[in-house]
Amino acid sequence: MSAFIEQLPKVELHLHIEGSLEPELVFALARRNGITLDYPDESALRAAYDFDDLQSFLNIYYAGMSVLQTEQDFFDMAHAYLARAHGENVRHVEIFFDPQAHTDRGVPFSVVITGLHRALEQARHDWGMSSRLILSFLRHLPEASAIDTLRQAEPFRHWLAGVGLDSAEQGNPPEKFVRAYALAREQGYRLVAHAGEEGPPQYIRDALELLRVERIDHGVAAIEDPALMDELAAARIPLTVCPLSNLKLKVVDSMADHPMAKLLQAGLCVTVNSDDPAYFGGYMNANFLALQQGLGMTDRELLQLALNGVEASWLSPEEKTLLM
Ligand code: ADE
Ligand code: ZN
Repeated sequence: MSAFIEQLPKVELHLHIEGSLEPELVFALARRNGITLDYPDESALRAAYDFDDLQSFLNIYYAGMSVLQTEQDFFDMAHAYLARAHGENVRHVEIFFDPQAHTDRGVPFSVVITGLHRALEQARHDWGMSSRLILSFLRHLPEASAIDTLRQAEPFRHWLAGVGLDSAEQGNPPEKFVRAYALAREQGYRLVAHAGEEGPPQYIRDALELLRVERIDHGVAAIEDPALMDELAAARIPLTVCPLSNLKLKVVDSMADHPMAKLLQAGLCVTVNSDDPAYFGGYMNANFLALQQGLGMTDRELLQLALNGVEASWLSPEEKTLLM
Protein backbone atom coordinates (compact mmCIF):
# COMPACT_ATOMS: atom_id res chain seq x y z
CA MET A 1 0.00 0.00 0.00
CA SER A 2 1.23 3.46 -0.87
CA ALA A 3 2.10 5.65 2.14
CA PHE A 4 0.77 8.65 0.21
CA ILE A 5 -2.67 7.05 -0.15
CA GLU A 6 -2.72 5.82 3.46
CA GLN A 7 -1.87 9.26 4.82
CA LEU A 8 -4.19 11.21 2.52
CA PRO A 9 -7.16 12.55 4.53
CA LYS A 10 -10.23 11.20 2.76
CA VAL A 11 -13.99 11.65 2.66
CA GLU A 12 -16.37 8.98 1.42
CA LEU A 13 -19.62 10.09 -0.23
CA HIS A 14 -20.95 6.89 -1.79
CA LEU A 15 -21.16 3.98 0.61
CA HIS A 16 -24.11 1.64 1.08
CA ILE A 17 -23.91 0.62 4.70
CA GLU A 18 -25.51 -2.76 3.88
CA GLY A 19 -22.68 -3.25 1.36
CA SER A 20 -20.13 -3.05 4.16
CA LEU A 21 -21.44 -6.26 5.72
CA GLU A 22 -18.48 -8.65 5.64
CA PRO A 23 -19.18 -12.43 5.45
CA GLU A 24 -17.86 -12.91 9.00
CA LEU A 25 -20.46 -10.46 10.34
CA VAL A 26 -23.20 -11.98 8.13
CA PHE A 27 -22.56 -15.35 9.80
CA ALA A 28 -22.18 -13.89 13.31
CA LEU A 29 -25.54 -12.09 12.98
CA ALA A 30 -27.18 -15.18 11.45
CA ARG A 31 -26.06 -17.22 14.48
CA ARG A 32 -27.22 -14.51 16.89
CA ASN A 33 -30.65 -14.35 15.24
CA GLY A 34 -31.12 -18.09 14.61
CA ILE A 35 -31.12 -17.70 10.82
CA THR A 36 -29.89 -20.43 8.47
CA LEU A 37 -28.03 -19.18 5.40
CA ASP A 38 -27.82 -20.77 1.96
CA TYR A 39 -24.02 -21.02 2.29
CA PRO A 40 -22.18 -23.41 4.68
CA ASP A 41 -19.57 -20.89 5.82
CA GLU A 42 -17.90 -17.52 5.30
CA SER A 43 -15.54 -18.68 2.57
CA ALA A 44 -18.36 -20.28 0.57
CA LEU A 45 -20.29 -17.01 0.76
CA ARG A 46 -17.23 -15.00 -0.26
CA ALA A 47 -16.65 -17.39 -3.18
CA ALA A 48 -20.11 -16.45 -4.50
CA TYR A 49 -18.96 -12.82 -4.93
CA ASP A 50 -18.32 -13.27 -8.63
CA PHE A 51 -20.69 -10.95 -10.46
CA ASP A 52 -21.74 -10.58 -14.10
CA ASP A 53 -23.55 -7.29 -13.70
CA LEU A 54 -25.41 -5.11 -11.20
CA GLN A 55 -28.41 -7.45 -10.86
CA SER A 56 -26.28 -10.51 -10.04
CA PHE A 57 -24.70 -8.48 -7.24
CA LEU A 58 -28.02 -7.11 -5.97
CA ASN A 59 -29.39 -10.65 -5.55
CA ILE A 60 -26.60 -11.55 -3.11
CA TYR A 61 -26.61 -8.09 -1.49
CA TYR A 62 -30.31 -8.33 -0.52
CA ALA A 63 -29.87 -11.95 0.67
CA GLY A 64 -26.87 -10.97 2.84
CA MET A 65 -28.66 -8.14 4.61
CA SER A 66 -31.57 -10.40 5.64
CA VAL A 67 -29.58 -11.28 8.80
CA LEU A 68 -30.11 -7.72 10.09
CA GLN A 69 -32.97 -7.81 12.59
CA THR A 70 -32.31 -5.72 15.69
CA GLU A 71 -31.10 -2.22 16.43
CA GLN A 72 -27.87 -3.74 17.75
CA ASP A 73 -27.35 -5.52 14.39
CA PHE A 74 -27.53 -2.19 12.53
CA PHE A 75 -25.24 -0.60 15.09
CA ASP A 76 -22.69 -3.42 14.79
CA MET A 77 -22.68 -3.23 10.99
CA ALA A 78 -22.19 0.55 10.94
CA HIS A 79 -19.64 0.48 13.75
CA ALA A 80 -17.53 -2.09 11.88
CA TYR A 81 -17.52 0.07 8.74
CA LEU A 82 -16.74 3.29 10.61
CA ALA A 83 -13.84 1.67 12.49
CA ARG A 84 -12.44 0.43 9.22
CA ALA A 85 -12.83 3.84 7.56
CA HIS A 86 -11.25 5.58 10.55
CA GLY A 87 -8.30 3.18 10.25
CA GLU A 88 -7.87 4.35 6.62
CA ASN A 89 -7.84 8.05 7.57
CA VAL A 90 -11.36 8.68 6.29
CA ARG A 91 -12.44 11.86 8.12
CA HIS A 92 -16.03 12.26 6.91
CA VAL A 93 -18.64 9.87 5.50
CA GLU A 94 -22.00 10.25 3.76
CA ILE A 95 -23.76 6.94 4.08
CA PHE A 96 -26.68 5.43 2.16
CA PHE A 97 -29.09 3.00 3.71
CA ASP A 98 -31.92 1.09 2.02
CA PRO A 99 -34.87 1.24 4.45
CA GLN A 100 -37.30 -0.59 2.13
CA ALA A 101 -35.00 -3.64 2.09
CA HIS A 102 -35.64 -3.91 5.83
CA THR A 103 -39.18 -2.61 6.31
CA ASP A 104 -40.37 -5.01 3.57
CA ARG A 105 -39.03 -7.85 5.81
CA GLY A 106 -40.92 -6.56 8.83
CA VAL A 107 -38.04 -4.65 10.48
CA PRO A 108 -39.38 -1.25 11.61
CA PHE A 109 -37.85 1.91 10.14
CA SER A 110 -37.16 3.11 13.71
CA VAL A 111 -35.02 0.02 14.46
CA VAL A 112 -32.89 0.54 11.35
CA ILE A 113 -32.25 4.25 11.75
CA THR A 114 -31.74 4.20 15.52
CA GLY A 115 -28.96 1.61 15.24
CA LEU A 116 -27.24 3.46 12.39
CA HIS A 117 -27.54 6.86 14.09
CA ARG A 118 -26.07 5.54 17.35
CA ALA A 119 -22.99 4.21 15.52
CA LEU A 120 -22.50 7.54 13.69
CA GLU A 121 -22.74 9.47 16.97
CA GLN A 122 -20.21 7.16 18.61
CA ALA A 123 -17.77 7.65 15.71
CA ARG A 124 -18.19 11.40 16.04
CA HIS A 125 -17.52 11.20 19.78
CA ASP A 126 -14.64 8.71 19.70
CA TRP A 127 -12.80 9.74 16.54
CA GLY A 128 -14.14 13.16 15.54
CA MET A 129 -15.49 11.56 12.37
CA SER A 130 -18.33 13.59 10.85
CA SER A 131 -21.14 12.01 8.87
CA ARG A 132 -24.42 12.43 7.04
CA LEU A 133 -27.13 9.83 6.51
CA ILE A 134 -28.87 9.45 3.12
CA LEU A 135 -32.15 7.57 2.80
CA SER A 136 -32.05 5.70 -0.49
CA PHE A 137 -35.16 4.62 -2.41
CA LEU A 138 -35.08 1.24 -4.16
CA ARG A 139 -35.83 2.05 -7.77
CA HIS A 140 -37.07 -1.45 -8.68
CA LEU A 141 -40.02 -0.87 -6.32
CA PRO A 142 -43.02 1.37 -7.15
CA GLU A 143 -42.82 5.10 -6.50
CA ALA A 144 -45.68 4.73 -3.98
CA SER A 145 -43.37 2.65 -1.79
CA ALA A 146 -40.72 5.40 -1.90
CA ILE A 147 -43.34 7.97 -0.89
CA ASP A 148 -44.50 5.73 1.97
CA THR A 149 -40.88 5.41 3.12
CA LEU A 150 -40.56 9.19 3.15
CA ARG A 151 -43.59 9.27 5.44
CA GLN A 152 -42.05 6.69 7.78
CA ALA A 153 -38.91 8.83 7.93
CA GLU A 154 -40.77 11.94 9.14
CA PRO A 155 -40.16 11.40 12.90
CA PHE A 156 -36.42 11.04 12.13
CA ARG A 157 -36.14 13.90 9.65
CA HIS A 158 -33.48 15.64 11.80
CA TRP A 159 -31.17 12.61 11.52
CA LEU A 160 -31.33 12.58 7.72
CA ALA A 161 -29.44 14.84 5.33
CA GLY A 162 -30.70 13.68 1.98
CA VAL A 163 -32.39 11.11 -0.21
CA GLY A 164 -30.91 8.94 -2.96
CA LEU A 165 -31.98 6.36 -5.52
CA ASP A 166 -30.32 2.97 -5.97
CA SER A 167 -30.85 -0.69 -7.00
CA ALA A 168 -31.55 -1.90 -10.58
CA GLU A 169 -31.01 1.06 -12.89
CA GLN A 170 -31.96 -0.31 -16.28
CA GLY A 171 -35.71 -0.06 -16.86
CA ASN A 172 -36.16 2.12 -13.75
CA PRO A 173 -35.42 5.61 -15.08
CA PRO A 174 -35.34 8.79 -12.97
CA GLU A 175 -38.74 9.89 -14.33
CA LYS A 176 -40.37 7.09 -12.29
CA PHE A 177 -39.54 9.03 -9.08
CA VAL A 178 -40.39 12.63 -9.97
CA ARG A 179 -43.16 12.91 -7.35
CA ALA A 180 -41.13 11.27 -4.57
CA TYR A 181 -38.24 13.66 -5.21
CA ALA A 182 -40.56 16.68 -5.33
CA LEU A 183 -41.92 15.69 -1.90
CA ALA A 184 -38.41 15.17 -0.51
CA ARG A 185 -37.39 18.57 -1.84
CA GLU A 186 -40.42 20.18 -0.15
CA GLN A 187 -39.25 18.59 3.12
CA GLY A 188 -35.81 20.14 2.76
CA TYR A 189 -33.85 17.01 1.90
CA ARG A 190 -30.75 17.31 -0.23
CA LEU A 191 -31.04 15.20 -3.37
CA VAL A 192 -28.75 12.71 -5.09
CA ALA A 193 -29.38 9.71 -7.37
CA HIS A 194 -27.47 6.81 -8.90
CA ALA A 195 -27.38 7.45 -12.65
CA GLY A 196 -25.17 6.35 -15.51
CA GLU A 197 -23.79 3.28 -13.75
CA GLU A 198 -25.28 0.70 -16.13
CA GLY A 199 -27.81 3.12 -17.56
CA PRO A 200 -27.30 5.61 -20.42
CA PRO A 201 -26.05 9.22 -20.20
CA GLN A 202 -29.67 10.34 -20.64
CA TYR A 203 -30.42 9.03 -17.11
CA ILE A 204 -27.78 11.48 -15.80
CA ARG A 205 -29.49 14.35 -17.61
CA ASP A 206 -32.90 13.19 -16.33
CA ALA A 207 -31.68 12.89 -12.73
CA LEU A 208 -30.45 16.48 -12.94
CA GLU A 209 -33.43 17.94 -14.79
CA LEU A 210 -36.40 15.88 -13.56
CA LEU A 211 -35.28 14.95 -10.04
CA ARG A 212 -33.17 18.11 -9.58
CA VAL A 213 -30.33 16.27 -7.82
CA GLU A 214 -27.18 18.16 -6.88
CA ARG A 215 -24.81 15.18 -7.15
CA ILE A 216 -24.74 12.06 -9.33
CA ASP A 217 -23.76 8.68 -7.90
CA HIS A 218 -21.51 6.81 -10.38
CA GLY A 219 -22.20 8.84 -13.54
CA VAL A 220 -19.40 7.11 -15.46
CA ALA A 221 -21.63 6.85 -18.55
CA ALA A 222 -20.97 10.59 -18.99
CA ILE A 223 -17.77 9.54 -20.76
CA GLU A 224 -19.96 8.55 -23.76
CA ASP A 225 -21.43 12.06 -24.10
CA PRO A 226 -18.92 14.91 -24.53
CA ALA A 227 -21.62 17.62 -24.38
CA LEU A 228 -22.83 16.26 -21.06
CA MET A 229 -19.24 16.13 -19.78
CA ASP A 230 -18.86 19.82 -20.62
CA GLU A 231 -22.06 20.66 -18.74
CA LEU A 232 -21.06 18.63 -15.67
CA ALA A 233 -17.62 20.24 -15.64
CA ALA A 234 -18.97 23.78 -16.05
CA ALA A 235 -21.55 23.34 -13.28
CA ARG A 236 -19.13 21.40 -11.01
CA ILE A 237 -21.80 18.71 -10.55
CA PRO A 238 -19.98 16.07 -8.48
CA LEU A 239 -19.85 12.43 -9.58
CA THR A 240 -19.30 9.93 -6.76
CA VAL A 241 -17.35 7.34 -8.74
CA CYS A 242 -16.61 3.83 -7.43
CA PRO A 243 -13.69 2.28 -9.35
CA LEU A 244 -13.58 -1.23 -7.84
CA SER A 245 -17.37 -1.48 -8.01
CA ASN A 246 -17.27 -0.66 -11.73
CA LEU A 247 -14.64 -3.36 -12.24
CA LYS A 248 -16.46 -6.04 -10.20
CA LEU A 249 -19.84 -5.33 -11.87
CA LYS A 250 -18.24 -5.31 -15.31
CA VAL A 251 -19.11 -1.69 -16.06
CA VAL A 252 -15.48 -1.59 -17.27
CA ASP A 253 -13.47 -4.56 -18.61
CA SER A 254 -10.30 -3.60 -16.77
CA MET A 255 -9.06 -0.80 -14.52
CA ALA A 256 -6.97 0.44 -17.45
CA ASP A 257 -10.27 1.16 -19.25
CA HIS A 258 -11.78 3.11 -16.35
CA PRO A 259 -12.87 6.66 -17.34
CA MET A 260 -11.77 8.28 -14.04
CA ALA A 261 -8.57 9.86 -15.38
CA LYS A 262 -10.33 11.24 -18.50
CA LEU A 263 -13.19 12.66 -16.44
CA LEU A 264 -10.76 14.34 -14.06
CA GLN A 265 -8.65 15.73 -16.90
CA ALA A 266 -11.82 17.12 -18.51
CA GLY A 267 -12.41 19.18 -15.38
CA LEU A 268 -15.25 17.21 -13.77
CA CYS A 269 -15.62 17.11 -10.00
CA VAL A 270 -15.06 13.34 -9.75
CA THR A 271 -14.57 11.70 -6.34
CA VAL A 272 -13.39 8.26 -5.14
CA ASN A 273 -15.71 5.97 -3.18
CA SER A 274 -16.10 2.29 -2.29
CA ASP A 275 -19.87 1.70 -2.88
CA ASP A 276 -20.15 -1.80 -1.34
CA PRO A 277 -16.64 -2.53 -0.03
CA ALA A 278 -17.38 -5.94 1.50
CA TYR A 279 -18.45 -7.19 -1.95
CA PHE A 280 -16.11 -5.37 -4.32
CA GLY A 281 -12.69 -6.15 -2.88
CA GLY A 282 -11.76 -3.06 -0.94
CA TYR A 283 -12.40 0.07 1.03
CA MET A 284 -11.23 3.62 0.24
CA ASN A 285 -7.48 3.01 0.13
CA ALA A 286 -7.92 0.02 -2.18
CA ASN A 287 -9.95 2.19 -4.57
CA PHE A 288 -7.26 4.88 -4.67
CA LEU A 289 -4.62 2.19 -5.13
CA ALA A 290 -6.53 0.68 -8.07
CA LEU A 291 -6.50 4.09 -9.78
CA GLN A 292 -2.78 4.47 -9.13
CA GLN A 293 -1.74 0.96 -10.18
CA GLY A 294 -4.40 0.08 -12.76
CA LEU A 295 -4.86 3.45 -14.41
CA GLY A 296 -1.51 5.10 -13.72
CA MET A 297 -2.98 8.12 -11.95
CA THR A 298 -0.35 10.29 -10.26
CA ASP A 299 -0.20 11.36 -6.61
CA ARG A 300 -1.13 14.88 -7.73
CA GLU A 301 -4.26 13.52 -9.45
CA LEU A 302 -5.15 11.38 -6.43
CA LEU A 303 -4.83 14.48 -4.23
CA GLN A 304 -7.19 16.36 -6.57
CA LEU A 305 -9.70 13.50 -6.29
CA ALA A 306 -9.51 13.72 -2.48
CA LEU A 307 -9.97 17.51 -2.60
CA ASN A 308 -12.95 17.05 -4.93
CA GLY A 309 -14.45 14.79 -2.25
CA VAL A 310 -14.25 17.59 0.29
CA GLU A 311 -15.73 20.07 -2.21
CA ALA A 312 -18.59 17.69 -3.08
CA SER A 313 -19.40 16.85 0.54
CA TRP A 314 -22.22 18.33 2.58
CA LEU A 315 -19.89 19.69 5.21
CA SER A 316 -20.28 23.38 6.06
CA PRO A 317 -17.66 25.79 4.66
CA GLU A 318 -16.05 25.93 8.14
CA GLU A 319 -15.89 22.14 8.38
CA LYS A 320 -14.40 21.95 4.88
CA THR A 321 -11.66 24.40 5.81
CA LEU A 322 -10.78 22.28 8.83
CA LEU A 323 -10.43 19.21 6.59
CA MET A 324 -8.26 20.84 3.89
N1 ADE B 1 -27.12 -0.75 -4.15
C1 ADE B 1 -25.97 -1.06 -3.56
N2 ADE B 1 -24.95 -0.87 -4.40
C2 ADE B 1 -25.48 -0.42 -5.57
C3 ADE B 1 -24.95 -0.03 -6.81
N3 ADE B 1 -23.64 -0.07 -7.08
N4 ADE B 1 -25.80 0.36 -7.77
C4 ADE B 1 -27.11 0.39 -7.55
N5 ADE B 1 -27.65 0.04 -6.39
C5 ADE B 1 -26.86 -0.36 -5.41
ZN1 ZN C 1 -24.01 2.77 -5.05
